[in-house]
Parts: sequence; C-alpha cells; structure tokens
Amino acid sequence: MSEAEIKIEGEKWGKQRLRADRTDALYARIPKGETLMRIEHLRVVYRTDDKETVAIEDFTLPVKKGELVSLIGPSGCGKTTLLRAIAGLLQPTSGQIMIGDQQCRGPGSDRGMVFQDFALFPWRTVRQNVAFGLEIAGVPRAEREERALRYVKTVGLEKFADARIHELSGGMKQRVGIARALVMHPAITLMDEPFGALDAQTRNIMQEQLVEIIQHSERTILFVTHSVDEALYLSDRVVVLSKRPSTIHKVLDLSWPRPRDRTAPEFTQLRRDILAWLGEQNVMEN
Ligand SMILES: Nc1ncnc2c1ncn2[C@@H]1O[C@H](COP(=O)(O)OP(=O)(O)OP(=O)(O)O)[C@@H](O)[C@H]1O
Ligand SMILES: [Mg+2]
Repeated sequence: MSEAEIKIEGEKWGKQRLRADRTDALYARIPKGETLMRIEHLRVVYRTDDKETVAIEDFTLPVKKGELVSLIGPSGCGKTTLLRAIAGLLQPTSGQIMIGDQQCRGPGSDRGMVFQDFALFPWRTVRQNVAFGLEIAGVPRAEREERALRYVKTVGLEKFADARIHELSGGMKQRVGIARALVMHPAITLMDEPFGALDAQTRNIMQEQLVEIIQHSERTILFVTHSVDEALYLSDRVVVLSKRPSTIHKVLDLSWPRPRDRTAPEFTQLRRDILAWLGEQNVMEN
C-alpha cells in the first residue's frame, strides 16, 4: 500500500476518531484481568483458482486485558493469518472477533500490528515512521513529536531518529516497527515474530524492554514467535498450535514472576516438552 493510499484510508480513520475514543473509554472500563477480546470459532480459507487452503479451523480464544499471550506453532500453520484477521486486514470465512462488545469488521486504531516483514516507509525517517499513525489519527504535532521520540528511545534508536530506513540494519528496522505500533497505545498489540530478525543479544535486550513495558502499562499483547524460550520468558499464557489448519493443541498458564530465569528447572523442562511436541509435527507434510 502506498503512503497516498494509506492517507486516504487514514482520512476514514480520522473520521473514526470518535469511534477510537469510544474504544479508549471501553478499554478503561474493562478491569485488568477481565476478558478484553474474544476470538470465536474463527475459520479462514484462502481460495485461489485451483485450490482451497484452510489456514485456520474453529479457533476460539479469549484474551484478558493486560496479558501477553504467545502463539507458537509449526511454520505455515496459520499464525500470521490469525493476526491479520484480528487486525482486520482479511475477512474471516466464518466466526468472529469481539473487542468488548464490539465486533471487529476492519482495521481500527484499537489494534496495532508489528509485521513480520517490517512494512516501513523507506522515504520517511525513523522518527517520521513512528509518528505516522499519530498523524493519521490527527494527534497534534507537539504531542506526536514527543510521543514518537519517547518510543524511538524505548527501542534504543535515539541516535538514528533522523536516519532513513535504508541506513538501518534488519534488527533496527524491526525496532522501528515495534515503536510504530506501541506509540499508538492500541488496546491490543499484535506482534508477528517481532524479534525474529534480531541478533541474539539485541533480542534479549528487546525482550527485557518488552517485559518492562508490560509491567508498567496495561498492554495486551498477542505475540507470535518461533522461539519456545522467548514465549516462556515473556508470556502469561502460551498457546501451542497444531500444524495447518491451526487449532489449539495446548494452552499453558505461566504464573512465574518476572524477570524470569531461563535456567530454572521448570523453565527448561517446559521448553523441552514443547520442543519435543513441535518436533513431532511433520511440518514438511504441511
Ligand atoms: N494470501 C494467501 N493466499 C493463499 N494462501 C495463503 C496466503 N497467505 C497464506 N497462505 C497459506 O496459509 C497457510 C498459513 O500461512 P501463514 O502465513 O498464516 O503461516 P504462519 O504460521 O504465519 O507461517 P510462518 O511461521 O512460516 O510465518 C500457509 O499454508 C500459506 O501457504
Ligand atoms: Mg508468519
């Protein structure tokens, strides 16, 4: 999508600002720990000329306000599809997604997405990329500059605030994507392997920063990852998915305090169990 097309979309969003404000009010009304979003009997089928692919089958999951839920499952099982459906970027074949008492019927400022492939604007600087959604939402200049810079700092890119996207490494680009979603203060942040492109050290730092963010704000996050270690380090709940079509194999409640010790026996045991189960899924037959 070009910037102009998004701006046209954005005008619609601007007009929906009142709706977004209503969503904020709704978010404030729901107490932490109560159900915020319900994914109900979701089914997504992709149809091309010669075939049908069932990506998601009868997927039901309630998400509580303030929790971080990880989705982990074999490659191609439908994780990105699920996030795109929640973001309103594709229409489910059947089933529905509710936030509070409102059904999601398209994109909205109540859901922010961090994409697997960054999806940044190359002609904008780091700071301008982060501020983009705030511009669209009609946030006044002073506030948007302050907020954008705050989140550029949160992801450790202060020195690159005025750099263009092509001057950044893959990991830095992904950090811009994360800042761009968080700056909007969405009710739900959808993160599709947000740390997948980072080197191990930066990845650990970003995980620690995300833990800080969730401890100091009431973020509700749906987090797709291939890393069992990352899921166990970050999540309140881990949803283990079967191979395509995606159904829930297991939901694990993790009440361990944060910050977590990755070498603790219960941590390593659970990691072993999940890895063994994932290993049994024959992804190549997908
Ligand atoms: N636009 C599309 N048209 C047709 N089929 C699609 C489309 N997008 C995804 N698929 C198919 O749907 C299935 C799920 O894809 P999806 O990208 O959701 O998987 P994923 O779990 O995110 O995989 P990965 O872990 O590799 O990112 C795959 O079989 C894929 O080929
Ligand atoms: Mg994916």
